[in-house]
Amino acid sequence: MAQFPSEPFRIKVVEPVRLTSREERQRALEEAGYNTFNIRAEDVYIDFMTDSGTAAMSDSQWAGIMQGDESYAGARNFFNLEEAIQSITGFRHFVPTHQGRAAENILFAVTVKPGQVVPSNMHFDTTQANVLARGGRVANLVIDEAFDPTSHHPFKGNMDVKKLESFIQETGPENIPVGMMTLTNNSGGGQPASLENIRATAEVYHRYGIPFFIDACRYAENAYFIKLREPECAAMPVLEIARQVFACADGCTMSGKKDALVNIGGFLAMNDEQLYQQVCQELILREGFPTYGGLAGRDLEAMARGLWEGLDEEYLAYRIGHTKYLADRLVEEGIPILEPPGGHAVYLDVLRFLPHLPQSALPGQALACALYLEGCIRAVEVGSVMFAEEDPETGEVVYPALEMVRMAIPRRVYTQSHLEYVVQVCKQLYERREEIGGLRYVSKPKLLRHFTSRFEPL
Ligand SMILES: Cc1ncc(COP(=O)(O)O)c(C=O)c1O
Repeated sequence: MAQFPSEPFRIKVVEPVRLTSREERQRALEEAGYNTFNIRAEDVYIDFMTDSGTAAMSDSQWAGIMQGDESYAGARNFFNLEEAIQSITGFRHFVPTHQGRAAENILFAVTVKPGQVVPSNMHFDTTQANVLARGGRVANLVIDEAFDPTSHHPFKGNMDVKKLESFIQETGPENIPVGMMTLTNNSGGGQPASLENIRATAEVYHRYGIPFFIDACRYAENAYFIKLREPECAAMPVLEIARQVFACADGCTMSGKKDALVNIGGFLAMNDEQLYQQVCQELILREGFPTYGGLAGRDLEAMARGLWEGLDEEYLAYRIGHTKYLADRLVEEGIPILEPPGGHAVYLDVLRFLPHLPQSALPGQALACALYLEGCIRAVEVGSVMFAEEDPETGEVVYPALEMVRMAIPRRVYTQSHLEYVVQVCKQLYERREEIGGLRYVSKPKLLRHFTSRFEPL
């Protein structure tokens, strides 16, 4: 029987949600152009679109909001945040940003030149788009097990260190302004990387003189997986594991909307003084003065407090257990998912769920729409809509190896019976899977297609 550690908190504030009728949902889907991003949140019962910015903040964070110091420069909340970031990451400098992609934008604005390449285990979509926007390219060098949804490798977010080294030799280190690693690997199913692998990756980057930056959105969940799965770290406090991870790197980009448990906020941290000076110039242009970086003082305070709460081991045991509970229940019902589950989401394995649909029929998008129609559950496609690439010369479409629907779980928001409801809806859908048809594009933008494309049934 699937179980998870019960919540180390109780509920003080509630927000009503409504299960709409099937007719209402059909209408909402049509109006949304079959893109779940276009559905009004009020028309959603269980919102698994993202774990980003959707956490329930604690009473301490809300109290911190009332202590926001809204001075333009030098607000006390900046110093509280500085204390948290320096204590956890050890990086010498940081700037707040309004969210993670703003940190990426600023980092790549000052590091990437046209034609240069930024490798990672796997870039998240905004990271990739920010590199492309600077005229750069990306390389995703995660281990092969990441592409096998049935492999139970404990660290499917690991970098393939051999592939990385060959890649650097072929590309030339002078063409690689920065090397990255995403922890946990969101685009590959929220899978963690081991401390051993992060150290090996850092060693390769540094041997070739390449600065190493971590995309640290879910660093606390990654550190907790390290504690669970890497025997040498079993007795180490999660905070210590996180410090050792950051000690491998020269800086990080962070979306506080994940493991810092806030609804808005992020930061960019680094050791290099010269880089920091360039970052500050760019920050003032795009985000704001370096002690607020596009956020209100109250947001800085909520992030400072949330960073500590996100590292609490009882919270992390509940969080990782809660996600695993949903995955275990779906597996018990015979529903194909990406295994083992990652930290923040359960991914339906679309190619096994809908084997009758080719990737050209956008089966991931079709399944996300079917989930909404069947149960008022909003999830997001992570597959051909997000990642298929067109060969600029031949026009041939190259489809991604994994086609998934991500059910990302907001932190401290949904109860066990909500999860059970999701299991029942998935079960009903799986039983009638042959009735689910494909979709085609009505319109699609060039970058970050999944956010704004429109579709229609085939
Ligand atoms: C791995 C990863 N990197 C970067 C980002 C971008 O963060 P934000 O949404 O705060 O801009 C996300 C957001 O989901 C993410 O999952």
